[in-house]
Amino acid sequence: MKTILIVNGPNLSMLGKRDPKHYGSGTLKDLENACVNKGIELGVKVECFQSESESAIIRKLHMSMGRIDGIVMNAGAYTHYSIAIRDAIELIKIPVMEVHLSDIHNREDFRNRSVIEAVCKKQFCGMGVKGYLLAMEELVSEYFSKEADEAESSEADPLSEERAAINEIDKEMLVLFERRMKHSERIAKIKAQSGAAIYVPGREQEILSAAEKAVDEPYSDYARQFVQEILRLSKERQKEISEEK
Ligand code: DQA
Repeated sequence: MKTILIVNGPNLSMLGKRDPKHYGSGTLKDLENACVNKGIELGVKVECFQSESESAIIRKLHMSMGRIDGIVMNAGAYTHYSIAIRDAIELIKIPVMEVHLSDIHNREDFRNRSVIEAVCKKQFCGMGVKGYLLAMEELVSEYFSKEADEAESSEADPLSEERAAINEIDKEMLVLFERRMKHSERIAKIKAQSGAAIYVPGREQEILSAAEKAVDEPYSDYARQFVQEILRLSKERQKEISEEK
């Protein structure tokens, strides 16, 4: 089965709070759900990714090579100046559709220019969420060959496809885990210097209930347990650091 990646760039996590005149009133979750449902209708897998950071978007594009068949990308404000994202789109050799919720050609002058347009297959703008759905339809009709898909599905081993997807996710998760541990270490060092208590129970509860809310059923409780284990490991490392002092 083919896979479409939906990439949303900076500030699109704040949909629902941004100017409804340009962006509508739906949230990012609403937008992503609409894309996932469209994927079911089109018979493709859909993965969604959002980041505020240029480097995370570029890394995501690199990691898409060999596993993603088409990309629908709203690069947000990076559209207008990120040559680095443009270069990443060009090098991955995956068809990318450029999407904008608003009509960038009828807004401020600085939004008229897209530096990624030339390396994307087509630009959809001013149609809200519908633009994403049309871009997905066009990826499937213009760039996903049916014959290749049929040949692939007769050969494909669904178990190894799923395992490969999990391996990729684990890789990304471990990079984030290491980053998180490094921040915890820095916090422990700052607190050791000032003599402040490392453990703040209220904060742990806050993080756990945020984890529960961030993930849909049936995974909310698992998300809580997952984050609880990460907090336990980070506390363990912080304790080691405070004892070293
Ligand atoms: C946008 C348009 C960009 O100019 C802006 O910076 C965004 C969103 C859109 O979807 O209309 O963040 O890409």
